[in-house]
Amino acid sequence: MRTLSVETNNKIGQEVTLKGWVNARRNMGKIVFLDLRDRAGIVQVVGVPAELDEASQEKLKTVRPEWVVEIRGVVNARGAKQQNPEMPTGMVEVLAKELKVLAEAEPLPLDLEDEKIGMDVHLDYLPLTLRADKYRAVFKIQAEIVRGFRDYLNTQGFTEIQAPKIVAAAAEGGADVFEVSYLKNKATLAQSPQFYKQIMVGVFERVFAVGNCFRAEQHATTRHLNEFTGLDLEMGMITDHHDVMDLEMAMMRHILNHLDATVSSELKIWKYARPLLPEKVPFMTLREVQQLIKEKTGVDHISEPDLEPSEEKWLGEYAKTIFNSDFIFVTHYPTSKRPMYTYPDEKNPEFTKSFDLLFRGIEITSGGQRHNDYNALVKSMENKGLNPEDFKFYLEAFKYGMPPEGGFGLGLERLTARLLEIDNVKYATLFPRDLNRIDLQISPPEYKQ
Ligand code: 4AD
Ligand code: MG
Repeated sequence: MRTLSVETNNKIGQEVTLKGWVNARRNMGKIVFLDLRDRAGIVQVVGVPAELDEASQEKLKTVRPEWVVEIRGVVNARGAKQQNPEMPTGMVEVLAKELKVLAEAEPLPLDLEDEKIGMDVHLDYLPLTLRADKYRAVFKIQAEIVRGFRDYLNTQGFTEIQAPKIVAAAAEGGADVFEVSYLKNKATLAQSPQFYKQIMVGVFERVFAVGNCFRAEQHATTRHLNEFTGLDLEMGMITDHHDVMDLEMAMMRHILNHLDATVSSELKIWKYARPLLPEKVPFMTLREVQQLIKEKTGVDHISEPDLEPSEEKWLGEYAKTIFNSDFIFVTHYPTSKRPMYTYPDEKNPEFTKSFDLLFRGIEITSGGQRHNDYNALVKSMENKGLNPEDFKFYLEAFKYGMPPEGGFGLGLERLTARLLEIDNVKYATLFPRDLNRIDLQISPPEYKQ
């Protein structure tokens, strides 16, 4: 029976069979140390020729990083000097008795633990570079973020839905829509599950979706992807956008606790500092933020419809210093700049009951209350120069009783990047698509439109 690397801790003195990849090989004279990596972790194997049969001795000479091997051996406690308390299996090692090769690997084109591998090389070799400890950690953590999101919402009466990705109309407006040929017609790739999650509020009241979102970004930045993973939710029977914001932060707290409980050793690899998340996350209107920036820095952007990236960064630092929070909500973006489904503030309809959540100085979420009245929604479309006929299907949902509702979309890769303080979102994206790349480069790296 196979033993996983981390299970060796409880099997001192016993014979085990391990299967895994050679993560590293170290020669000490005739003795060979192999770090063996499997799905659960890494364990040190000691290869002493005298302990092995002849065939195994020969194999021990040849195995290199990424070879897949099967090792039968005995678990021993490490000597006091060899112990490594940083490593989950750092108190044991396996003395090999037999070694079989399950798959060979070509010599590696790069050293996986090399800190200086550039972005393009990293991406060109992703099937290999993702195996490095650092990146296995990123995507293990990401998987647990998704699990935490799901688990929390399932306890709060949400139903998970699958929203289509081939759609007829652009939900978020704007120019960043991919067109695709659709049999004899044209269609677009969904920018978000927005319409479908709203329609589903009429069915289930509370829904969420985890799914790919597509944006035809024509520029290269450290925060934009052309395909990202949206963590979306939508909920009915709200009073206003604050209900959605409160739920988001309760969800965030759950995710952070969940990460501490499940991936603490992966977090350690990234020197993770748990984000500051106060009981009540601060919120300010866009105009209040702009006023503040004017007072503190002299920059007057009071008539701008959005914050610049540098202003978001500034606000992130301000929130940390003044409110002891790594998160801050900015509310009340102008009606003219928010999508047509956004609910205007009754007190000042030029601004919306919408919000962005900034985490360590970068937007990770947009959300808000939505129009739930059919006539108001049609009017809002018309005000934006849109033809309600194009949205007939979506509008059906609002004809037959839609409660006051709202929701948000959270970018999984941005959240992961900010949590681990990774400065380019592409390192927190499993297979990033950008201006120049779909897996491999499709145009020269300097291409900018
Ligand atoms: O701000 P966005 O465009 O909002 C929506 O899609 C709305 N439907 C949300 C809602 O429920 N009202 O996208 C939501 C989040 C952003 O805050 C960001 O984290 C992420 O999705 N996002 C991107 N991430 C990487 N690359 C891109 N090009 C992104 N565009 C949005
Ligand atoms: Mg946004």
